[in-house]
Amino acid sequence: MFMGIVVLTMKASVIEMFLVLLATGIHSNKDMTKKIKRPKLAVPQINCDVKAGKIINPEFVVKCPAGCQDPKYHVYGTDIYASYSSVCGAAIHSGVLDNSGGKILVRKVAGQSGYKGSYSNGVQSLSLPRWRESFIVSEGKPQKGVTYPSALTYSSTKSPPAKTGEATKAYQKPPVPGTTAQPVTLMQVTGAPATEATHTSLPKPSPSTGSTTSSLRPQPMGHRSWELGRWSPSSPTSSHNSSHASPGFVPKEELSTQSLDPVSQGDANCKVDLSFLIDGSSSIGKRRFRIQKQFLADVAQALDIGPGGPLMGVIQYGDNPAAQFNLRTHMNSQDLKTAIEKITQRGGLSNAGRAISYMTKNFFSKANGNRGSAPNVAVVIVDGWPTDKVEEPSRFARESGINIFFITVEGATENEKQYVTEPNFLNKAVCRTNGFYSLSVQSWFSLHKTVQPLLKRVCDTDRLACSKTCWNSADIGFVIDGSSSVGTGNFRTVLQFVANISKAFEISETDTRIGVVQYTYEQRLEFGFDDYTTKSDILNAINRVGYWSGGTSTGAAINYALEQLFKKSKPNKRKLMILITDGRSYDDVRIPAMVAHHKGVITYAIGIAWAAQDELEVIATHPASDHSFFVDEFDNLHRFVPKVIQNICTEFNSQPRN
Ligand SMILES: *[C@@H]1O[C@H](CO)[C@@H](O)[C@H](O)[C@H]1NC(C)=O
Ligand SMILES: *[C@@H]1O[C@H](CO)[C@@H](O)[C@H](O)[C@H]1NC(C)=O
Repeated sequence: MFMGIVVLTMKASVIEMFLVLLATGIHSNKDMTKKIKRPKLAVPQINCDVKAGKIINPEFVVKCPAGCQDPKYHVYGTDIYASYSSVCGAAIHSGVLDNSGGKILVRKVAGQSGYKGSYSNGVQSLSLPRWRESFIVSEGKPQKGVTYPSALTYSSTKSPPAKTGEATKAYQKPPVPGTTAQPVTLMQVTGAPATEATHTSLPKPSPSTGSTTSSLRPQPMGHRSWELGRWSPSSPTSSHNSSHASPGFVPKEELSTQSLDPVSQGDANCKVDLSFLIDGSSSIGKRRFRIQKQFLADVAQALDIGPGGPLMGVIQYGDNPAAQFNLRTHMNSQDLKTAIEKITQRGGLSNAGRAISYMTKNFFSKANGNRGSAPNVAVVIVDGWPTDKVEEPSRFARESGINIFFITVEGATENEKQYVTEPNFLNKAVCRTNGFYSLSVQSWFSLHKTVQPLLKRVCDTDRLACSKTCWNSADIGFVIDGSSSVGTGNFRTVLQFVANISKAFEISETDTRIGVVQYTYEQRLEFGFDDYTTKSDILNAINRVGYWSGGTSTGAAINYALEQLFKKSKPNKRKLMILITDGRSYDDVRIPAMVAHHKGVITYAIGIAWAAQDELEVIATHPASDHSFFVDEFDNLHRFVPKVIQNICTEFNSQPRN
């Protein structure tokens, strides 16, 4: 009986053990099936600077490295970000990630008509008028039943960043489904018959010889007055039919596009709203005007125009501009080419500036077919140089979100430079000075070679972000107290502060510019807005500023800065004055500060140690709480760099634009 119980209990524990083993066996088996069904995700990794627009996948999990909380990784929007933003930067801004990196889930959503910038989690995001695509970020927890890509697909036309002067990889028009015809090659479409090439080798007549032949029509000073000299209307090569480049080509062209490509939606990889501004001035001559038309036709042919791809309109300018057709007039390549052939030359001057203003005001309206979801691009073709100024109209266009490209054909030679209305107009007209937005063509006869390089850039929609941002639109004047109380060491700290703020901005002749005034009882201009145009030159110049030592006349310094710095600020630039002082002024600051505010100079006052807070508040723009800062000692000045930048951009973002 007793033995029986023992055996029974033993049996029970054995059974129990067996059950436990069985259970764990099943459990581990379950684990295995789980592993087989859902292998551990290989999460792709990206750098801080990768923009969402570069990645084609609509939804993906990625790993961000540490250190993406840096102003150089620009972010546009709040909660919903324009795909022009750094993916990892946006993740930090939205609070999904901190600066130590990690996994995030990214989902693409539709483009928005406006993105609002904000400061959040140590990242200043910017506003953007509109963008074609957006994304949202959330924690990197994969959702059930969704398989995420283990490798990302990058858009091929957009990476790696193209060097200037690239002409290697041709922009590829996608094959038309169901078509066996070979795509028409560039050479076939080109306007210049071989005989015309001989003209390119003719020496250019000098302005003086040419002016005698130009009596046919009045020529303004400052534009070429010798054009007719090289474009004899009776030239034998101009007798071929103006509507077609070569007679043998026509049927082929019609075969390849009209009959076999009835319903193209357009090339989705190049979805841009495109406007060409063509030069119809008298001086261009009939034949070169025809070459220009042929160039447009080549572009229309090379682009697969359609409602889901690029759309294209044309404005012709002479004395005044006129729209030939808008974005929705002709929505396929063939109709567009037919319409281009029918354009007749307007004559008059080359008033490109006026045409750009006209375009900005009228062309990209909704009624004209602007889709909003596609970047706005304008390509201005200029024969030689414009007869009016283009800088301000171009800036206004860029600030309205239009990306401006310039193609200058047969630009001014050394001898001709004296006639150019606006020296260096190219750099002033286009966004940034890295050459992406401008193309120079030696001769009208080689213009056709520009089709591919131009389209490669125009279709690189990831790089088209030419609108005004907090970083590229200010003239910043630093007004630095060099009084004796500062001391040499502290003065170096102030210069570091100036350099650290300057570093955050995009600096060039056409973007943000920096100037510095130092003052004691007296004032001196260390350098003005025009003196340095690159970031490294600015940083070197700041570093070279020598400590002056003396009294503190802050009021006189503000007057001096208005006169010597801000008087030379460009219209449409944000004028920012950042005044740094360590003591109470010997003179009155109220009137000078009022004048500064009245002139639209946004004034920040930064006081250190012995500075008088009430005075800082008088100097600062309203509200003073956003524009004045007090730091107890020089060693703590560095802490205010992010705060000052943040306030500058917050204020920028809060202003209505476009
Ligand atoms: C030019 O084209 C027009 C219309 O297409 C045609 O009537 C004319 O005969 C052509 N002229 C030449 C010289 O080919
Ligand atoms: C400027 O930036 C450098 C590098 O980030 C930093 O070490 C320094 O403390 C900063 N100084 C000031 C005054 O902002």
